Amino acid sequence: MQKKTFYITTPIYYPSGRLHIGHSYTTVAADTMARFKRMQGYDVMFLTGTDEHGQKIEERAKAAGVTPKEFVDEIVSGIKDMWKLLNISYDKFIRTTDGYHVSAVQKIFKKLYEQGDIYKGSYKGLYCTPCESFWAESQLKEGKCPDCGRDVHYAEEEAYFFKLSKYADRLIEYYESHPDFIQPVSRKNEMINNFIKPGLEDLCVSRTSFSWGIPVDFDPGHVVYVWVDALSNYITALGYGSDDTSKFEKFWPADVHLVGKEIVRFHTIIWPIMLMALGLPLPKKVFGHGWLLLDNARIAKSKGNGIDPVVLCNRYGVDAVRYFLLREIPFGSDGNFTNEALISRINSDLANDLGNLVSRTAAMVGKYFGGKLPAEREPGEYDDELIELATSTKIQVENYLDKLEFSSALAEIFKLVSRANKYIDQTTPWILAKDESKKARLGMVLYNLCESIRIISILIAPFMPATAKSIQKALGEHEHIYEWDSASMFRLLPAGAEINSAGVLFPRIDLQKELEELEAMDSAQPAGVTTVNQITIDEFAKIQLISAKILECEPVPKSSKLLKLTVDDGTTRRTVVSGIAKWYTPETLIGKTVILVANLKPAVLFGIESQGMILAATVNKDDVRVIFTDAPAGSVIS
Ligand code: ME8
Ligand code: MG
Repeated sequence: MQKKTFYITTPIYYPSGRLHIGHSYTTVAADTMARFKRMQGYDVMFLTGTDEHGQKIEERAKAAGVTPKEFVDEIVSGIKDMWKLLNISYDKFIRTTDGYHVSAVQKIFKKLYEQGDIYKGSYKGLYCTPCESFWAESQLKEGKCPDCGRDVHYAEEEAYFFKLSKYADRLIEYYESHPDFIQPVSRKNEMINNFIKPGLEDLCVSRTSFSWGIPVDFDPGHVVYVWVDALSNYITALGYGSDDTSKFEKFWPADVHLVGKEIVRFHTIIWPIMLMALGLPLPKKVFGHGWLLLDNARIAKSKGNGIDPVVLCNRYGVDAVRYFLLREIPFGSDGNFTNEALISRINSDLANDLGNLVSRTAAMVGKYFGGKLPAEREPGEYDDELIELATSTKIQVENYLDKLEFSSALAEIFKLVSRANKYIDQTTPWILAKDESKKARLGMVLYNLCESIRIISILIAPFMPATAKSIQKALGEHEHIYEWDSASMFRLLPAGAEINSAGVLFPRIDLQKELEELEAMDSAQPAGVTTVNQITIDEFAKIQLISAKILECEPVPKSSKLLKLTVDDGTTRRTVVSGIAKWYTPETLIGKTVILVANLKPAVLFGIESQGMILAATVNKDDVRVIFTDAPAGSVIS
């Protein structure tokens, strides 16, 4: 029998800078669904990728002094590294600069043109460059772009238009006959009332004001509007418009497009109309999730190291971050991201509840039964209640996951974790162990706990794959006992099974200390500075850095900030004035070797000519540290 298929997508991300925790949110959610469906036996296609064209990227690349392709190549490779770190099991990564995508989009555009759904006209309007969107005056919010709040400017150009208006009625009809199409439902009413009812205007689908896009192949100078380019990825990735359409036939229509709420409009109006015009079936569901907020504002770019997903994964482990993202905030709603909430979740749910359950149980099997599950087991009070919950949790998890209610699904799993911990408190194995006649009862208690942990390990696997693996390794890798369906069965671990320690799954974190460290990181240089204002190696070579030994040092009279240094730069003595008096006394500096910017234009400070500058690190505004070196004076630093 043919396996059932499941096709899930994330948006394709703009490689205009570093990705932040908000992007990880969508991708971790999609990954969890993909893993869940694979475990359920579906043939899964999980697509993600990058949306690489458009004016914004063109401008960024120019500012960085590289070609757009060079610019995106570097960022895309960073994005792929990040998905690897986060354990994202995508089946395909599409880049809109990929040749097959470019040619398929050209075919789509041409087909729509030839059948009369796209026509040539001219565009006058207000344009938001960062969002690549034209807006009508009436759509602006306080004169600014309604999506991002930034300035718009008047623009006019010859352009192609897509007849959205022609399909408006059919679209509303589709919404009505497919109540699950837009989730959560509140977003559907927003689309109908704010966008469709007021009248759909035809959409401008080509640009001539810049060139970094897919060329309209029959009209040089025009490039395809980036959203038409981008949305098409969901079918071009499957081979639509190429010679091999087998994947397209197998997986289309998509089961779910996961998108952030600000791009629901593109996915539930433009995209379905494009598909209708192409004569293709529509996706089954578009789910618009909420935003991760930082101090109640949407996290829009890397605001600091303390919320950088790479930093968080390195500090707490990937699974802790994945867990937090999906547990803390109901998927359709906005929610604040705070390090405090993250650390509290790790400590309470993961370290205390889950971690403790596993380590206590393994330790007791070790202590009382030499690490092997006993064959003799005597049923008793509390067993049925535990077993009943353990075997019925799976169906709850399935129900919630099928509705993309990740947080509720996890809450169900952790009810079982708590129940199992309570079972330990109720059955008091350490007391049973004191009485030889209770040995069989003790055996049963520990067996039931191991079975509950086995079930838990299956259910958490889509969310926390590495943790699930570690637990299963500790319980022993017996055949067929970790399959999805085995999560509703009890008594699968064989008697005599060896139970090992899973180690410390989630170390407890000292909240106060951790918050202080994160704070210190945040006031240091923001992450992501490397991708803006890049300089070439030749530009860097203009700066002459030389090690210089401090021979003399004294405060500058009348200044509380400045020190006057006399340094040996390897050939001569020179005077340098430096604003470090707040952090260093002259005695602590004399005899040390520092790094000197040797070819800096001299400047006069408090009547003293400073012939260069010494390098120091700004940890934060109250903490500046001079960079010392053990290289001899006069060494060239490059
Ligand atoms: O929109 N919280 O790309 P993108 C939650 N290229 N989700 C967030 C978020 C936050 N703070 N910030 C961003 C694009 N996202 C287009 C998509 S699809 C054919 C083209 C989510 O890189 C955001 O909601 O700006 C969106 O779903 C995704 O990250 C990509 O954003
Ligand atoms: Mg965006």
